[in-house]
Amino acid sequence: MIHRIVILGFGTVGQGLAEILISKRDFLKKKYGFEFEVVGVSDLMWGTVYNPNGLNLEDLLASVQSETKFSQTVKDWDSMTLIKESRATVICELTFTNLESGEPAISHCKTAFQNGEHVVTSNKGPAALAYREMKSLAAEKGVDFFIEGTVMSGTPVLNLADGPLAGCEVSKARGILNGTTNYILTQMEIGMSYDEALKKAQELGYAEADPAGDVEGYDARGKVTILANAVMDASLRISDVQCQGITRISADDIEKAREKRSRWKLIGSVEKKNGTITASVSPEMVPLTHPLAGIMGATNAITFSTDLMGDITVVGAGAGKIETGYSILTDLLRIHRSV
Ligand SMILES: NC(=O)c1ccc[n+]([C@@H]2O[C@H](COP(=O)([O-])OP(=O)(O)OC[C@H]3O[C@@H](n4cnc5c(N)ncnc54)[C@H](OP(=O)(O)O)[C@@H]3O)[C@@H](O)[C@H]2O)c1
Repeated sequence: MIHRIVILGFGTVGQGLAEILISKRDFLKKKYGFEFEVVGVSDLMWGTVYNPNGLNLEDLLASVQSETKFSQTVKDWDSMTLIKESRATVICELTFTNLESGEPAISHCKTAFQNGEHVVTSNKGPAALAYREMKSLAAEKGVDFFIEGTVMSGTPVLNLADGPLAGCEVSKARGILNGTTNYILTQMEIGMSYDEALKKAQELGYAEADPAGDVEGYDARGKVTILANAVMDASLRISDVQCQGITRISADDIEKAREKRSRWKLIGSVEKKNGTITASVSPEMVPLTHPLAGIMGATNAITFSTDLMGDITVVGAGAGKIETGYSILTDLLRIHRSV
């Protein structure tokens, strides 16, 4: 079959996905029999385009490069109309993350399911706020809701737990799930103050102008909620996850950790004990002998503790245009393998 793809949100990740789809079209067909057309793209900034025979992705990327709105095959449709009218087989939901209401992404997903379309997303909103509801609405229509990119971008985490580790019970997941805070802590170890390290992270584009989402631990809290619900079958709300960020870590604290042959890391953790699942985000002194202590800079990592395989640690990118674009490709291929 030829997958008919719609992309909602043509920002960093949408463009990364488009670049991958352009460069790998032949490889994907030859190796996996994966054939596709991107029939629609909708973005608040660039406009909505639709062509049932497939859009020219190079043209769309060229528009964005030259900072001009889409100019060919333009439709006077918003994202909802595109979902309803496009007869897509899969919607890639790549709009901004809203951890308060989950909108507009939750409505995008619901509308896609009502229309019998799969959803693939790196948007933490629907996954952190409404994972069970999304899964069940998708199941009612016999379609999928895949979310690999919501935790550690394209580094296999959720699909690893669901796929290769199937049959194992995961009793604990602990990880460095936010690259910005890990970068700041790494810079503090080499002598910068917290303020200097944050400024550097902002200059490098790791941290937003308002860094609260990262440094207060809210981004990691969303990811921990997703891990609890998607990997450990919990029904946690974001507010159930205790959360403390790194804003109170001082140069003195860094020194004290060094004396104890440890290192501060912002750890997101989910644990099942006696049938109860608890989750938290907080800075911890991790002994240098632990695999998570060696994760420096903006890199992410997670350790799953399993009954049959012991501890398994995955290290990799937690963000990035191509890395997160790849998370969408990996879920598209998952859908392809199952149809
Ligand atoms: N970038 C990463 O490395 C990364 C990693 C993991 C997960 N994610 C997640 O992946 C998603 C996409 O990230 P991103 O970095 O690509 O964000 P981005 O660069 O901000 O792009 C999002 C795009 O969606 C557009 N948009 C917002 N509301 C829309 C709507 N209702 N209909 C159509 N388009 C809409 C935005 O337009 P305006 O700019 O005009 O609002 C923007 O162009 C986010 O949820 C993010 O949290 C990103």
